[in-house]
Amino acid sequence: MTSVAPLTPMSLGALLHRIDHEWSTRNRIFDLPTARIWSPEPDVDLGFEFLGRPCATPIGPAAGPHSQMTQNLVLAWLGGSRLFELKTVQVIDDLEIARPCIDMQTVGYNIEWSQELSVPASVDEYVKASMLIRMLSEWEPLAEHLGDGPGEHVFDMSVGYDLAGISGEKVAGFIAAMLDAGPVIERLRPEIGSAPESFARLADVDFGTRIADTLTLSTFHGCPPHEIEAITRHLIDVHGLDVIVKLNPTLLGYETVSAIVNDELGYRDVSVKEQAFADDLQFERGIELIGDLADYARERGRRFGIKLTNTLVVDNTRGVMPDDTMYLSGAPLHVLASTLLERLSDALPGRLAVPGHDGEVMVSFSAGVTKENLADTIAMGVNPATICSDLLKPGGYGRLAPMLRALATTVSEDGFADLDSWRRHRQERAVAAGHRTTCAEHVAAIRGEGREPFALSGNSKLPREVDHDLEMFGCVACNFCVTVCPNDAFFSIRTPEDSDLESRQQYLVLAELCNECGNCLTFCPERGDPAMIKPRLYSDVSVFAAHEGQGFLVSAGRVVDYRGGDLEAATVGALLAAPAGDPLGGVRP
Ligand SMILES: Cc1cc2nc3c(=O)[nH]c(=O)nc-3n(C[C@H](O)[C@H](O)[C@H](O)COP(=O)(O)O)c2cc1C
Ligand code: SF4
Ligand code: SF4
Repeated sequence: MTSVAPLTPMSLGALLHRIDHEWSTRNRIFDLPTARIWSPEPDVDLGFEFLGRPCATPIGPAAGPHSQMTQNLVLAWLGGSRLFELKTVQVIDDLEIARPCIDMQTVGYNIEWSQELSVPASVDEYVKASMLIRMLSEWEPLAEHLGDGPGEHVFDMSVGYDLAGISGEKVAGFIAAMLDAGPVIERLRPEIGSAPESFARLADVDFGTRIADTLTLSTFHGCPPHEIEAITRHLIDVHGLDVIVKLNPTLLGYETVSAIVNDELGYRDVSVKEQAFADDLQFERGIELIGDLADYARERGRRFGIKLTNTLVVDNTRGVMPDDTMYLSGAPLHVLASTLLERLSDALPGRLAVPGHDGEVMVSFSAGVTKENLADTIAMGVNPATICSDLLKPGGYGRLAPMLRALATTVSEDGFADLDSWRRHRQERAVAAGHRTTCAEHVAAIRGEGREPFALSGNSKLPREVDHDLEMFGCVACNFCVTVCPNDAFFSIRTPEDSDLESRQQYLVLAELCNECGNCLTFCPERGDPAMIKPRLYSDVSVFAAHEGQGFLVSAGRVVDYRGGDLEAATVGALLAAPAGDPLGGVRP
């Protein structure tokens, strides 16, 4: 499976119809049940400042599959995310990514790059998400699930990968559109007026036109290390942005990385790519750079931070995805990034904004964050902890709210009501236990007796399998394909009572939202690829015509054309006609 599957985003109007229809028939939004919507704890304030901007919770999606499309960002917000590192935008916006591109069977591997949409389409997705979040904050049916209110959130842009690309017209246009999205908002606004009544009444809402004014620079995918300084200065000087530089685990050096991954954690089969270390930023230069850029930003009234880390470049020895190289994330990366944080804070005394140093350089984090380690991660002083791999596991976006609840419980059980005072307590406790900082304490734990959840032995369990070939209708109905899909391309319909079909639920794919990433294939317990075997619904005639294989063109809730058998088409038609059947409520996107 190597064909490129471009995404076709849903219009704002279609998304509003979909929400309205799904809520009234199933009490869900984009397949997320109300029990997984984050409602802030009244007694614990989980808020923090992201480069000076208030953020109501310290978690959110890391740049990746969860921060590319509108419904993904909305799902992450409903789950409790309040800091969003948007999918990286770059000058090459017609990338051909080999498929499948995600392999989360054990730890985490991918071969993705940056956004798969054109730059203008990416702008639209981010603006639509921002508008939808604003509307949902005021949407009456949701009010009882948002407690005292959702609180503030921040969209953080991500761009890559070199000075020429970033300073060129395309990326500059992207940044300008995110700084002032007024024209895009006014172009989209009429779609609200023709949405169902509960949304149409919000058509005159005063949407903020500044979608994002902070930016995280990706230094991955061959970003020349000698250009990092010039790119950051450019972003500060030309666009007036507050900037974070996302660093790579290669900063630790090949010997340390391979000793941790292969020897300490036992991933003997992971072949760390030595060449990537030579090509990347070196530790000594990194230290100079962080200090210099922090000074440069401060002198210009701007803020500067670092993010630890992007993924680790390794040889592709698994054979699940094409390409010779793949990028490791998840549990082992957590140990690398935490170790790097300890080394950087030691090398830059008093400069990083973490307990025990109390400097000005904010540290954002993305490396194997899970519900189990979130509290210890946040205690290290990172702001925020962003997540990618864990959200690609069964439960998907529904994993966010339990993470926040667990964090709030820890803070509250320690006797605190906000993150800052709780972190001070954790730092005092770490020092009393003989550690210099909470970070040093965490690193000692995860490289010592607490190593198991990060080591091979704690990450070798494979997804469940059943001895059955997957069919178009009927399956074990585990729902994994719905929750692991970052794009919410899968949905299920309860099998009508008068149907001959066996399973209680039927699973269908909104083909235009599926980029064939392969994540549902990994987790489906049956044999076969759900994204290809389950009925693929199209709503755009040209996209339908451009694809091969089985497919059903749907309009106003009915099958109007199809490739495949007559019986299958009749069955899909009957399913869509069932109560709550058509997820689009009969509307064409
Ligand atoms: C499928 C996938 C796509 C990603 N795409 C991007 C990207 O576009 N830009 C970026 O800076 N990082 C990207 N990343 C890296 C993540 O943002 C994150 O830094 C990394 O996966 C570590 O976090 P995790 O262990 O929670 O996955 C991607 C990661 C994955 C797994
Ligand atoms: S349906 Fe499956 S292959 Fe398609 S985007 Fe979702 S998880 Fe990926
Ligand atoms: S298609 Fe596979 S993953 Fe989806 S519900 Fe059926 S068995 Fe589960």
